[in-house]
Parts: sequence; C-alpha cells; structure tokens
Amino acid sequence: MNHAVINGTGSYLPERQLSNQELESMLDTSHEWIMSRSGIASRHIANEKETTAYMAAQAAKDALASSTLTADEIDLILVATCTPNRFFPGMACSVQHALNIKKSIPAFDVGAACSGFVYAIDIAWQYIRSGAAKNVLVIGSETMSKALDWQDRSTCVLFGDGAGAVILSADSTREGIIASRLHASHDEEFLLNFDNYTGRDEKSVISMRGNEVFKLAVNIMGDIVDEILQVAGLKKEELQWLIPHQANIRIIQGIAKKLNLPMSQVIVTIENQGNTSAASIPLALDYSVKQNRVKRDDLLLLESFGGGMTWGAMILRY
Ligand code: ACO
Repeated sequence: MNHAVINGTGSYLPERQLSNQELESMLDTSHEWIMSRSGIASRHIANEKETTAYMAAQAAKDALASSTLTADEIDLILVATCTPNRFFPGMACSVQHALNIKKSIPAFDVGAACSGFVYAIDIAWQYIRSGAAKNVLVIGSETMSKALDWQDRSTCVLFGDGAGAVILSADSTREGIIASRLHASHDEEFLLNFDNYTGRDEKSVISMRGNEVFKLAVNIMGDIVDEILQVAGLKKEELQWLIPHQANIRIIQGIAKKLNLPMSQVIVTIENQGNTSAASIPLALDYSVKQNRVKRDDLLLLESFGGGMTWGAMILRY
C-alpha cells in the first residue's frame, strides 16, 4: 500500500484586515471581550474579487510552487468549503480551470463545516492508499464574511476569510499519514446552523449557540486526541506539533494541556485570522512551514470540529 506524504503547502489571505477596534465602531463589543473570550485580534475579509474559488486557486498555485510537481501531475482536486460562491460548477472544478489542467481528472467539493479539511485530506489518503491517485490537491477555502449577520456580535466577531492548500503524494519511502479518524453526530438542536447559503440572501447566516458548542468541543476534542493516539499506536510525548482548528484559543489551550504540550509546540494563527472554518488547518500548516517551525519528519496532530456536528483528527509525519 502507498504512503501519502505532504509534497507542498500554500495559502492565500485577503489583503483587507478587520481589527477588533474597527468592530468596536460597528457593534456593541470591545477588543478586550473578543480577545479574552476567543483570542482573536483581527481577521482577513475578502473583497468581491476574492471569492472562495479565487482564493482556493491562489492557495493551490502557492502549494504547487512549493512542491515537486506541475499542475498536470495532479490527478484529484478536493476543495473543502461551507461557503462556495456557487454550488456548481464546483469550487474544485474552478481550481482545475484556474490551474489550466486540461486532462479530465476528478474534482469535487467536500462539505463538513469546519471539519471539511480533515474530511478532505482523509479522502485524499484513501485515494492514494488504494492506488487510485498519486498526487492529490486538497484545499480549504472559505468566505465566512459572506455567511455572517454583521449585526450579530455573538458570531460576526469570530470568523475570517482565507484559503490553505496541501498537496499529498504517493511515496513508498516515507511514512506520511499514519492515522485518521472522522466522526459525525447529527445535531438535532442545531447548536451550529447555516441553512441556505447563496451569498445573496440576507436571512441565510450562521447562527450558533456558542457556549454549548464550546463545552461540546472541549469534550469531543479531548476524546478524539486519546482515540487518534491509540489508533496510531503512539504516545503523546512523541508528538512534535499540534495543528488545531482555530476556533477559540481557550479550546486550543485545553487540548494542548491534555497532550502535555507547551503552547510553543502548538501552531496558533487565530489571533490574526479568526476562525476560517475549513481553511484554518491548511492555513496554520502552511504558516508553520513558512516560518520554518515544522520540519521534515516532525510528527503532527491535526484536529477539528464543526457544524453537523462533525469532528476528526489525523496524525502524520511531515
Ligand atoms: N462582545 C461583547 N459581548 C458579547 C459578545 C461580543 N462580541 N458576544 C456575546 N457577548 C455577551 C453575551 O451576550 C453574553 O452576555 P450576557 O451574559 O449578558 O447574556 C456574554 O457576552 C457571555 O456570552 P457567552 O456566549 O456565554 O460567552 P462565552 O464565554 O461562551 O464566549 C464564544 C463566547 C467566544 C462564542 C465561545 O462560546 C466560543 O468560542 N464557542 C465556540 C465557538 C466555536 O468553536 N464555534 C465553532 C464554529 S465551527 C463551524 O463549523 C462554523
């Protein structure tokens, strides 16, 4: 069976940044409240040109440039998103077009809210292990700003826009992905809800019972960390890096504590990016690579949770 290794990472963040101080002039909120409750100081906001498809393509080009591949060698494209700028053609097909890939390869979008990226990278791993694909482009891209009620201070201060990309390649010489676990449990009370995204209908916005999501996230993230270590046959002391979904610094600190990892071994981007949903893990991974923090053969734990509820984790050697 083939191993699946990371052969490139990339990212794209909109130029426009929206600080907590600016939000203070728009809403009944404060920098202190947002920072102390969530760890967010500012977030990037897409302009009209920076659609989910556009940002996905930019992140993909960045990932390709850092890889050993040309676009024509990609044989599967996956875009994880809950904010596509249209339902079809899919975001993955738009990326195929933007990369000028002429051959017909499978390209499709994956929807699992904030867990979309861990779901998509698991799918990529299955394709590579089975021999169905050699080089898979996996992207998380979100324009959360289009899905928010900018009058609702309990949600709009938390999210941001951006895209991150990873290229996974088959390799028989290195280990790469070691274990992956995905979960979903139908949330009948809709703690997190986004009904009918069109990007135009003002009534279709994210709603969230934040405090209940927070408590649930702390529990399920604690459990999945134990589960993934057991599946991988590893001890927590062996991990070099935690690359978590960036929803709330307090949740991230709780997981780090459970793993006995100092925060210096946790990749944190939430302060300047907010929660970019399915883009948050690939953005954090690319950030850590560009900062020269994560190095070849380091052992990484990725974990995420989101609407559905959906959650998942993966252990891999970079
Ligand atoms: N500024 C000032 N006050 C605010 C704001 C704001 N932006 N938002 C809410 N408040 C107020 C509330 O009205 C409430 O006031 P009250 O006590 O008078 O009623 C008070 O602050 C406390 O509100 P809580 O919701 O209890 O605050 P909490 O400490 O839980 O923090 C937060 C809120 C940051 C949302 C936290 O609950 C959280 O991070 N939850 C998890 C969110 C999350 O991870 N979501 C995942 C999304 S993933 C996806 O799939 C989309």
